[in-house]
Amino acid sequence: MKIGIVIGSIREGRKGERVGRWVERISRDHGVDVEVLDLKTFDLPLLTAPMPPAAAGGRYDSPEAQLWSRAVAACDGFVFVTPEYNHGVPGVFKNAVDTLAPEWAEKVVGFVSYGTDGGVRAVEQWRQIVANLRMYDVRAQVAMSIFTEFGDDGSFTPLERREAEVRTLLDQVTALTARVR
Ligand SMILES: Cc1cc2nc3c(=O)[nH]c(=O)nc-3n(C[C@H](O)[C@H](O)[C@H](O)COP(=O)(O)O)c2cc1C
Repeated sequence: MKIGIVIGSIREGRKGERVGRWVERISRDHGVDVEVLDLKTFDLPLLTAPMPPAAAGGRYDSPEAQLWSRAVAACDGFVFVTPEYNHGVPGVFKNAVDTLAPEWAEKVVGFVSYGTDGGVRAVEQWRQIVANLRMYDVRAQVAMSIFTEFGDDGSFTPLERREAEVRTLLDQVTALTARVR
């Protein structure tokens, strides 16, 4: 079972990469086979294809989308590492999710978020979005404050309880993934 950790921001100086790598470290320590899917490296174009991904039969116009398709298809479940932009999901992450369809279907997802209020509004939106892709979201969630857990100098000092929260999230993602499979 392979779990994809999707890093959902691409800004210069983003916090997402630190968070994603932290989740990766805990996952490996927890015995979970993970792969980091960093949107910055996939460099996906905006979705302009005439055919909706759900009807594209797995064929996509751009080489970037084809590579993204293969990477997502190779995962059995996901942890979405998401910031909150304007009280919602980041556009770049939504575009990446919209670019595919069958690759997400009947797979499990858990959320690690961060923001002024933990990014919880973005995650509530994600839960609606992934339902349409026939994904299964787990209840456990890690929601971190950019005021107290991140520094202006780029530092990241998650609260002590966060590691246990990530482990609980991983347990829920892997247990549900096993049942779905
Ligand atoms: C376009 C934009 C909109 C933002 N809107 C919110 C917001 O609505 N709520 C929030 O908690 N933080 C918001 N922020 C602040 C982000 O939480 C903060 O910049 C965080 O570092 C973004 O994640 P990233 O560094 O991985 O891109 C916003 C940031 C940007 C760039």
